[in-house]
Amino acid sequence: MTTLLTPSQVAERAGVTVSALHFYEREGLITSTRTAGNQRRYRRDVLRRLAFIRTSQRVGISLAQIRDALATLPLDRAPTKADWSRLSQRWRAALDERIARLQRLRDDLDGCIGCGCLSLRTCRLQNPQDALASEGPGPRLLDPL
Ligand code: FES
Repeated sequence: MTTLLTPSQVAERAGVTVSALHFYEREGLITSTRTAGNQRRYRRDVLRRLAFIRTSQRVGISLAQIRDALATLPLDRAPTKADWSRLSQRWRAALDERIARLQRLRDDLDGCIGCGCLSLRTCRLQNPQDALASEGPGPRLLDPL
């Protein structure tokens, strides 16, 4: 027989709030069952899923990407070390690109420290040579992850 945990037990063990559990559930990242009294109960392996979710978020992976990754795993078991290794490998290239982009921004920031003009003509942090105009209106440099 599988031991089921209450939301407060899961929250305490995983270091998250009960409302975070509800949020993750609404987002399709974890699942629960219901008691006869319509109270949530979680299988113990939800703790590994939560560790996976929290660790992924900590390195900047979006909830949508985490959901996609978790969807490749069987629902009847916790993510394993091998799962984490395989899934995190997928994200490595995107993380490398993000790091490189942030390093470029940091380097460009050197010339802006103490300036504050944010000039469209001279500031390297502003859309250089309006190169992004062809991509459409609005902010184009927001991180897609
Ligand atoms: S803020 Fe002035 S050059 Fe960037």
